[in-house]
Amino acid sequence: MARSSAPGTAFLLGEHAVVYGEPALLFAVGRRATVTVETKSGEEDKMPDSAYVREAVGRAREHAGDDTPLRVEVESDIPIGAGLGSSAAVSAATLHAASRELGAPMEREKVAEEAHAVELDVQGAASPADTYTATMGGYTVVGDEEKRRLDVPGGADARFVVGWDGGSAPTGEMVEGVSRLVDRNRVADDIVESIGDLSRMGVERAETGDTDALGALMDMNQGLLDALGVSSSSLSRMVWAARDAGGHAKLTGAGGAGCVVAHPAADDVLSAVEDEAEEAFVARVAEGVRTEE
Ligand code: PMV
Repeated sequence: MARSSAPGTAFLLGEHAVVYGEPALLFAVGRRATVTVETKSGEEDKMPDSAYVREAVGRAREHAGDDTPLRVEVESDIPIGAGLGSSAAVSAATLHAASRELGAPMEREKVAEEAHAVELDVQGAASPADTYTATMGGYTVVGDEEKRRLDVPGGADARFVVGWDGGSAPTGEMVEGVSRLVDRNRVADDIVESIGDLSRMGVERAETGDTDALGALMDMNQGLLDALGVSSSSLSRMVWAARDAGGHAKLTGAGGAGCVVAHPAADDVLSAVEDEAEEAFVARVAEGVRTEE
């Protein structure tokens, strides 16, 4: 039996623009998906009805050259389809656990690459932002120019508030909506580039340990995401609750519904977001995919 887990992810800056190759700045959120895989010779496969799990198992089998029947179980405390990279976490943890159980453990880089391929197979379009971050953990920058873990001085101690409106929206449709806008309105194209510029500035600040400077950039990024049409009244309410309490905030992920991320994680900011959210919690920056058993 092999059990692995991988964290959810949040965008501090750069979602949607990352689909156009611009950089995004993310961190791994301390809520995880845990996947248990057990070989069951002589029996049939038993796994949850999830295209991500099926694809990830298929890829682990191909990698190991072994199609022994497997029993797969998934437990997760990451809200689904809400901008916290739940499918990336499930894909990375499944690849990690299944490849170990089949006797051919994948290297971290390989898990990241295969988890991105799983998302592409299942969703059509997907940037490697969520899958890379769920695999590597910590802070990351992901874009066409570079894809790496960021060394943020003191960053391990940083905390963020995550608020969830209780809803979810299909990533594919949100990405499609932005693409239609970009096609017919060149201002939208400029906005995508400007979001990339905010991420570049954010990476510079983060690398000097200035996580407080990220707040103003997050606020500006929220304004640009709103202009691209991916915010919503419930997301905006959580964002403004955080701001009215002295914090900075933006939606994270595809938008439409789902989660916001706010900084700093002061008590006032947490309780203000809580008042507008279905659920709110303080997120610490987490480790990437790892062996549990
Ligand atoms: O909401 P999520 O966790 O699926 O994130 C989507 C992020 C996008 O930038 C909108 C799409 C992508 O593939 O990066």
